[in-house]
Amino acid sequence: MYKIIDGKKLAANIRSELKKNISEYKSNFNEEIGLAVVMVGNNPASQVYVRNKIKACEEVGIKSYAFYLPEETSQKQLEDLLYSLAEDKKVNGILVQLPLPEKLNAESALKIVPFEKDVDGFSAENVGKLSQNSECLVACTPNGVMKMFESENISLSGKKAVVIGRSDIVGKPMAMLLLNANATVTVCHSKTQNLKEECLSADILVAAVGKAKFVTVDMVKEGAVVIDVGMNRGENGKLCGDVDFENVKKKCSYITPVPGGVGPMTITMLLYNTYITALRSKS
Ligand code: GUN
Repeated sequence: MYKIIDGKKLAANIRSELKKNISEYKSNFNEEIGLAVVMVGNNPASQVYVRNKIKACEEVGIKSYAFYLPEETSQKQLEDLLYSLAEDKKVNGILVQLPLPEKLNAESALKIVPFEKDVDGFSAENVGKLSQNSECLVACTPNGVMKMFESENISLSGKKAVVIGRSDIVGKPMAMLLLNANATVTVCHSKTQNLKEECLSADILVAAVGKAKFVTVDMVKEGAVVIDVGMNRGENGKLCGDVDFENVKKKCSYITPVPGGVGPMTITMLLYNTYITALRSKS
């Protein structure tokens, strides 16, 4: 029998705990916790993500500062804003929604975000610290996946983990977290040979590909834990993951659904990272 990991429920539990902690923080320090969200242009998916992030902040008592910059914003205008947010004491966390319009240089803009305020965990300092297994801000989606393992008491030590996808946002930090948890980790990508065989060897399979129903039942080992990070629109326009859920689930010990799996955990970890940045600024 398989178990569906309910990301929505876990996210709600963590958010309610966070809400209490944030309220205590505010009365202890007589201060708000602030998150600046910067978005440039009109990418429709980004607009939805940003709206959801701001709404989630409100729900747990984090003050959000939203900056919607027009498509024609120059590199200098964006960077000037980031310099001022970097200095601003009211702003504990800074998030630059990606992707930026093509003519802007995301790498140089992101370098302006101080690593202590880098709630996305994208900075070279945070990525480097993660690889050294030392205290840092961890990218939200893979950190949310780790919370899912923890909540279900899924042991990782000595397990064979396969991550499909090598993005900076999900695949790479996911692999590093699994390695830090003593799993034996393989990262697969578009140039991987024998993808099916690699996947079949996985006790833990994390799909972060961006292709609907990419992971089929013949790629999954009996009893595997399958984590679906995908967010795709299927042919019918419905949201669907990277995993062929209906067929794959029968083979799994645990599986995450889409929607209601990893998605709600991502924003929860953003709220968590923002709270952590505020706490660390006080220590
Ligand atoms: N675009 C897609 N995912 C993310 C994310 O986790 N953070 C930011 N800033 N942009 C994204």
